[in-house]
Amino acid sequence: MNTKNRVDLVDSGNRHSAQAEEARLNHARRAERDAFFRRFGYDSDAAVEFVLAKALPLPGPVLDIATGKGRFVVALARHCTEVTTVDISANEQRFARLEAAHVGVAGRIRFVIRDAAKLPWRSARFGAVVSMNAFHHMDNPDRVFAEMLRVLRPGGKLVLADFTVGGFRLMDKIHRAEGRIHPHPPSRFAPWKVSLLRLGFRVKRFRGCYQDVLIAVAPTISAVKRLP
Ligand SMILES: C[S@@+](CC[C@H](N)C(=O)[O-])C[C@H]1O[C@@H](n2cnc3c(N)ncnc32)[C@H](O)[C@@H]1O
Repeated sequence: MNTKNRVDLVDSGNRHSAQAEEARLNHARRAERDAFFRRFGYDSDAAVEFVLAKALPLPGPVLDIATGKGRFVVALARHCTEVTTVDISANEQRFARLEAAHVGVAGRIRFVIRDAAKLPWRSARFGAVVSMNAFHHMDNPDRVFAEMLRVLRPGGKLVLADFTVGGFRLMDKIHRAEGRIHPHPPSRFAPWKVSLLRLGFRVKRFRGCYQDVLIAVAPTISAVKRLP
């Protein structure tokens, strides 16, 4: 091996271990934060498991809306091989990438920075479109909901999850303890459920202590043709 190749190899090894260290630190910060939430009675991983238990199995490819720091999409990637996640914030998604690398699922997730109100994919591109704990952060949730429907293929599965009233109350308490405010405009799940039923979707809604989950299966093409 010549000197240049040896230097390149050492450089790439150093880069790799710096990234692994950054991912380890990110994971440690997250574990600390999880412990803080648990002191108030909220278990973030249990919340994700609650949603996944209602949502799985998911036909691929799967699109996750609003990556955030990646808790939901990383858990999802343990069950689904072809996952794309979109977020408007590159900064938030960076944490998600680190966590995905830390737990070894980075290769299963495609990260895209984009406003979910204007998704860059053709219609009917995804077998499942999902989102957890994100709508209350959005300026235009109705537009995002419409985009989620547009990119869902006939027969595909839509999964919408956000906090219940009790969940928001608890989040308020936690955020107040940190000197922050947590936004929560009224949930749009009730009117969305009505629209989905009108469009011929099969809809189920599950309310746990903290999570409100709407699962809707789109009509197949032949069922759409039969709709009035
Ligand atoms: C609380 S985080 C999502 C949590 C994540 N889904 C999870 O369960 O781990 C909310 C995210 O919504 C993103 N967001 C808000 N409006 C958006 C939009 N119009 N398009 C895409 N992402 C958006 C924010 O950047 C933020 O990262």
